[in-house]
Amino acid sequence: MLVSKALQRRYATKSFDPSRSLPPETVQQLLDALRWCPSSTNIQPWHFVVAATADGKARIAKGAAGPYSYNEAKILNASHVVLMCSRVAIDDAHLQQVLAAEEQAGRFTDKPDAAAMAHATRVSYHNVHRFDKKDVSHWLEKQIYLNLGNLLLTAGLLDIDAVPLEGINTQVLDAEFDLNARGLTAVVAVALGYRAADDFNAALPKARLAADAIFTLI
Ligand SMILES: Cc1cc2nc3c(=O)[nH]c(=O)nc-3n(C[C@H](O)[C@H](O)[C@H](O)COP(=O)(O)O)c2cc1C
Repeated sequence: MLVSKALQRRYATKSFDPSRSLPPETVQQLLDALRWCPSSTNIQPWHFVVAATADGKARIAKGAAGPYSYNEAKILNASHVVLMCSRVAIDDAHLQQVLAAEEQAGRFTDKPDAAAMAHATRVSYHNVHRFDKKDVSHWLEKQIYLNLGNLLLTAGLLDIDAVPLEGINTQVLDAEFDLNARGLTAVVAVALGYRAADDFNAALPKARLAADAIFTLI
């Protein structure tokens, strides 16, 4: 029931209360959600720019100019804004970094070839997307969206408000944070905090397709 209630309570917050900030322990739980999210072969192709200051939020709001200006106030008035970035490609250095993290966590103690097998599995999945499906950037971006879902659910369970923001100019943000030089690109942002008392969207009912239209129960 806890999850169902959180899913009903959460909604895309259109207006944040600029006077309220998330407490540090809540922020830590959100960072935990980002960090501990699963990903295909544990590849973790992400990086997060987390803005908590007015200056940091103003920098992310540069991506909400022109056609995206409807998102600007959400970014500026939220307590925290996370810019979720994806690696544009996977190189050997990244694969070795993941392997080293798994080794350090103690995952390879039981079988002598466990590390080699984990690495080989990851390389083989990566190669399927490089050479067969030719969709590496798409595959990596899927992992970011998985993390987005994880973050939104976590925010809901923590009783805090959030809105995902695809309405941002990712090229502007790539330049603002020099992301391309680090092999990264901006994908989506999430504004987090507390709803303003007059947020029109808080009062609207949630709308979803009928259950019998989306489930085939067999
Ligand atoms: C990937 C994604 C991107 C979104 N981008 C925006 C956005 O740029 N601005 C905005 O106000 N809402 C945005 N939304 C909110 C959706 O419109 C909203 O989640 C959807 O209508 C369902 O409503 P609910 O979240 O209130 O249940 C986005 C949602 C998702 C999942």
